[in-house]
Amino acid sequence: MKLLLSGRALTAGAVAVATLVTGGSAAGAATAPAPAHPAGAAAAAAPDIPIANVKAHLSQLQSIATANGGNRAHGRAGYQASLNYVKAKLDAAGFTTRVQQFTASGRTGYNLIADWPGGDANQVVMAGSHLDSVTSGPGINDNGSGSSAVLETALAVARSDYRPTKHLRFAWWGAEELGLVGSRYYVNSLGSAERAKISGYLNFDMIGSPNPGYFVYDDDPTIEKTFKDYYAGLGIPTEIETEGDGRSDHAPFKSAGVPVGGLFSGADYRKTSAQAAKWGGTVGQPFDRCYHSSCDTTANINDTALDRNSDAIAYAVWELSQ
Ligand code: TRP
Ligand code: CA
Ligand code: ZN
Repeated sequence: MKLLLSGRALTAGAVAVATLVTGGSAAGAATAPAPAHPAGAAAAAAPDIPIANVKAHLSQLQSIATANGGNRAHGRAGYQASLNYVKAKLDAAGFTTRVQQFTASGRTGYNLIADWPGGDANQVVMAGSHLDSVTSGPGINDNGSGSSAVLETALAVARSDYRPTKHLRFAWWGAEELGLVGSRYYVNSLGSAERAKISGYLNFDMIGSPNPGYFVYDDDPTIEKTFKDYYAGLGIPTEIETEGDGRSDHAPFKSAGVPVGGLFSGADYRKTSAQAAKWGGTVGQPFDRCYHSSCDTTANINDTALDRNSDAIAYAVWELSQ
């Protein structure tokens, strides 16, 4: 059974049914506690991702940039501090983390890989985002937004003690802004057997643009449908992502034959009148007027877009892993 309802709606429905059954039973009848994950039960529903938590991560990334010369760029102190922040959260939540080192433009770079213990190691669902900014600004929409939403989704996995059928892996890439260096290094570091175990890679790069669009990558049909279903459930139209196909970390995975997908709220292209008619916002203005600029701060985020996209990430991670 596939439901297009949100996780909360499904949970509320299940609770209502349980209450009805309990209310109709004889007084004093014992009700056996249901196992957390009964065999043959309906699929576990994704949680709502609290936008306040995602924004708290963005504030921390902003503070890190401010304390380190205004950026979180490859090879700079602000990148290292960003990685330490994300890694500490994941370690405390019970993830198995690994820092993968590489060199780009004469400086050391790092990817952070976090595995959630359990699940079928031969079927890996990955979600990732680049954690580096350009040198010209703090990189809060690009890509604190994706980094924070993926982090909060991982923490939600831990909070709900989610035990999916497939294995979950989360990644934060270094040196994307130098040409997808970290993600390409990771894909190349996997043998072909390891690559073949990845059933899907989901990428999130710029998902809180201040004049947002709702773009879904059209690479793998199953992943694309999962995101479209989520947005259909909200009654929000989406478009196919075309603002530079292959301009983010999904590209090395796709080149290696891994099914990929993702979400994007727009960079320096301008919103058309047709797009403003369906999404609101400002016609003729870029989706992100602070793209790669010093003004890509915590003020450069549309909270509604960030919230919807964060919830969509959790929905897809849950749907695609069971
Ligand atoms: N990856 C680009 C950056 O970080 C932004 C970007 C442009 C993008 N076009 C895209 C991201 C399409 C995802 C999809 O600067
Ligand atoms: Ca939410
Ligand atoms: Zn960028």
